Amino acid sequence: MMHKLFPTLIAEYDLSDKVDNVEVMKKIGISGMLMHGTLSKGMSSYMGGYDCALTRLAMKDLQTAIKECLDDYCKEAGLEENVIVNSWCNVLKEGGYVKRHRHDKSVLSGAYYPASDPDDCPLLIENPTQIYKMTETKVYDTEYNVSAIGVPTQAGKLVIWPSYLYHETQKNSSEERFTISFNTLDKSYLNAIRN
Ligand SMILES: [Fe+2]
Repeated sequence: MMHKLFPTLIAEYDLSDKVDNVEVMKKIGISGMLMHGTLSKGMSSYMGGYDCALTRLAMKDLQTAIKECLDDYCKEAGLEENVIVNSWCNVLKEGGYVKRHRHDKSVLSGAYYPASDPDDCPLLIENPTQIYKMTETKVYDTEYNVSAIGVPTQAGKLVIWPSYLYHETQKNSSEERFTISFNTLDKSYLNAIRN
């Protein structure tokens, strides 16, 4: 008997019938993007974690749809209700890439793709057990030893993963790759610090 224990939940949702992506793309254009250290040849509206672009730019259909997916994710994972605490827009130019990073001070993180191009670089999510594999020699990839999985972009796709997972991209081949990202915290934790 082989047991597959301790899986990591990475969820994909299709929001294409719930979100007006034309409107989202317009709002990305006015989100106020600057250079950011995590991005090479990219721009971000990320401002130290205090800004929620979804709220500021009134992307209500997307915000509501993401919340429904977060509730679904938490139900599947057995987690307490989580709420979005910050969100931001990213544009990656041709030849640009996202450096390896994780989202500290967050429970769940996500990426939404309002548009896609076949040449968009995929999101590479690192196997969290990778850091412990200091001695074994890989002969071929299996679901146990794969170093990272690639998630392709697709217009209307939302990806949710635990914030502790390191992720990155390789060089982007499309002219521009668009993402809206967010972080969450437990609802009870937010209620406690707000009182
Ligand atoms: Fe990220």
